[in-house]
Amino acid sequence: MTVNIDWDKLGFDYMNLPYRYVSYWKDGQWDDGKLSEDANITINEGSPILHYGQGAFEGLKAYRTKSGKVQLFRPDRNAARLQNSADKLLMPEVPIDKFIDAAKQVTKANEDYVPPYGTGATLYLRPILIGIGPNIGVSPAKEYMFLIFAQPVGPYFKGGMVPTKFIVADSFDRAAHFGTGGSKVGGNYAASLQAGKYAHEHGYGDAIYLDPINHETIEEVGSANFFGITTDKKRLLTPKSPSILPSITKYSILQIAKERFGLETEETKISIHDLDEFSEAGACGTAAVITPISSITYGDDVHTFGDGQTGELTEKIYNELTGIQFGDVEAPEGWIYPV
Ligand code: PLP
Ligand code: COI
Repeated sequence: MTVNIDWDKLGFDYMNLPYRYVSYWKDGQWDDGKLSEDANITINEGSPILHYGQGAFEGLKAYRTKSGKVQLFRPDRNAARLQNSADKLLMPEVPIDKFIDAAKQVTKANEDYVPPYGTGATLYLRPILIGIGPNIGVSPAKEYMFLIFAQPVGPYFKGGMVPTKFIVADSFDRAAHFGTGGSKVGGNYAASLQAGKYAHEHGYGDAIYLDPINHETIEEVGSANFFGITTDKKRLLTPKSPSILPSITKYSILQIAKERFGLETEETKISIHDLDEFSEAGACGTAAVITPISSITYGDDVHTFGDGQTGELTEKIYNELTGIQFGDVEAPEGWIYPV
């Protein structure tokens, strides 16, 4: 079957695809799970996800290679992160193998929607794990649902690999230091909506958050991690904080930068006052891929990186990362899972 989609024009929008995977946890165990053609779910009104936000999600992509095959990028890392999020919210873990098998099933079942090689578009998978069933007090659910749905997507930030302006959300926090910032849970994103709206309405790609204790060091973007490359082009630095999401893209970039481009890499504190150290900066994530940061506005100060264009190393790392993801460049062992 061929589907009628203008792959080059895809943004990051919902599309109701034919199949999703659904599995339930009850009485201490997961069922086998199955594909469903129903995009709507029915859950009890007392479900803790609805009241108390007991739920977590993930985001990963399937890529079409030049030879037409389809592959997932590091789904084991998303599975492990979902387990960490589950632990944080007292939810049962989804076994790693079950997660990967479900991601493959959904990709295969919707294969016509995996965008063609060369369009830059991908099939984005959205796993969710939620607490369901009749409850009213603040306590963990007794039943859970694990679901993965999919959509073909293009760039998350307008234009994709295009230098983008960001603004520091100095009067907002995304997550508390000992809270849920390091987990991929919905409340962090609900908390980012106001700052995100402000940023978008003022022409910025998104907001950048500072650490919630001193409002001094960079945390991350509302939807991606931050990295900077020093002006001597020797070091790639990225923030270290308990309240940012451990980005799989970020760890992949750190490894690529070190092993393939000989950069020193470090997770460390990065002061918002030290942006002069960097001549290149970027936002990285599954949806964002690598989005070069042209400038960061902080109060009255607008800091431009380099000449505001995509930096040379940022571009090299982008090409290497996406080359690996689309199967054009040899991947480090264990990064690619054929579907
Ligand atoms: N930070 C936040 C807040 C995110 O939502 C995401 C997206 O998943 C990331 C960072 C990037 O993480 P990853 O590279 O694992 O997609
Ligand atoms: C992802 O990159 O997968 C995310 O979950 C970011 C999301 C805010 C779209």
